[in-house]
Amino acid sequence: MNPLVFIETKRDGGCHTPEELRQFVLACRKGEFRDYQIAAWLMAVYFQGLSPEELRAFTEALAESGHMVRLPEELHAVDKHSTGGVGDKGTLVVVPLVAACGVPVSKLSGRGLDFTGGTLDKLESIPGFRSGFSLEELQELVRTVGCAVAGHSLEIAPAEGLFYALRDVTGTVPSLPLIASSIVSKKLAGGASGFVFDVKCGSGAFMRTREDARNLARLLVDLSRDLGRKAKALVTDMDVPLGRWIGNAAEVLEAVHTLQGRGPKDTEELSLALAGAMLVLAGAASSREEGLRRVEKALRSGEGLEMFRRFVAAQGGTPGVADDPEGVLALAPSRWDLVAPETGWLDRIDARKVGVAMRLLGGGRLHKDDAIHPGVAAEVLVRPGGAVEAGSPVLRLHYDDEARLAEAKDALRDALVIVQEQPPRRSVVLEAVD
Ligand code: URA
Repeated sequence: MNPLVFIETKRDGGCHTPEELRQFVLACRKGEFRDYQIAAWLMAVYFQGLSPEELRAFTEALAESGHMVRLPEELHAVDKHSTGGVGDKGTLVVVPLVAACGVPVSKLSGRGLDFTGGTLDKLESIPGFRSGFSLEELQELVRTVGCAVAGHSLEIAPAEGLFYALRDVTGTVPSLPLIASSIVSKKLAGGASGFVFDVKCGSGAFMRTREDARNLARLLVDLSRDLGRKAKALVTDMDVPLGRWIGNAAEVLEAVHTLQGRGPKDTEELSLALAGAMLVLAGAASSREEGLRRVEKALRSGEGLEMFRRFVAAQGGTPGVADDPEGVLALAPSRWDLVAPETGWLDRIDARKVGVAMRLLGGGRLHKDDAIHPGVAAEVLVRPGGAVEAGSPVLRLHYDDEARLAEAKDALRDALVIVQEQPPRRSVVLEAVD
């Protein structure tokens, strides 16, 4: 395959055949395309898009670039995926809750992407936690524990891992077909029979407007169904960070608080809505209301927390994180407060600016091989809707590198929006797409 001709075809608005796309993904895997050539093609797709036929073929080729997890059909395993946000610890709560209700969850997750956090980076802040499994290990974990979260390994959707890392550092993340193929390929390879998508919408999401988010939700549901899976999407608010904590270790901490029944309201509401939808998709609940009732019971009874403990232990992590997260997870030692510029009501904290600041402090990557600083965090001291006084602290950064702080402060300029009338309560779930 000639890389130059392939790139030029897309650059000039042409279409690839399904076979060409399969060959391309294979060639990338074998190192026959250089990173810079793959990056050029990604940028061409960013501008030219993919037809529905190309999208289907590319998604299948990514999924089939490694082994496909095969779970017995009668297990009705389900999976969920967030399109990425700031402070989004939903997966950490939803996976054990659903598994605690007897529905197996087989989940392939990603790392931080652009200014958004990634589930694997978060989980790996738990000492000992491991996510690189063989196919047999993953299947065994789902069977024996009830859930498992694995990353891109050499065996499972490896080509998607390659594209993902390159998109992260080449400005090509916010493309509908690239996002949809990235997500659905991992879902396909993960072996579940139904997927619930959490499509984030707002400043801290790749889809900033409701219309774009709805379009992505539609694309994800249609693509999944085209490929023979059941699917549902919720469009959810990401104009402000989710919960009180943003950062890798900090979000594990808040997920544990949520499973202990003392988490922030928005995080609990979102997690229950997603988990309830997964039960319906798996056929374990006959209606949205019944799904919600069952997952809420698993939360209040502590069964979700117990499942979290088992799942962390099964993946090598310190199970004590479920009882004493503050004792197990270390936050960065230095602190700096962002204060309110004027007196009034806090309308919003710009989620994207917080995500960018986190990345600059080392909570995310600027280069594909960068190491993560797991303890870097932002703590929301005043939630949107709260009253603030000029000069009072609203957001606290936990950091460990003075040299990076100046840039992070700069990224947070104008991040606080203060209004003079108390704003209405924000809803976290905005709409559902079936
Ligand atoms: N999540 C993914 O897995 N891929 C994307 O491209 C965006 C969010």
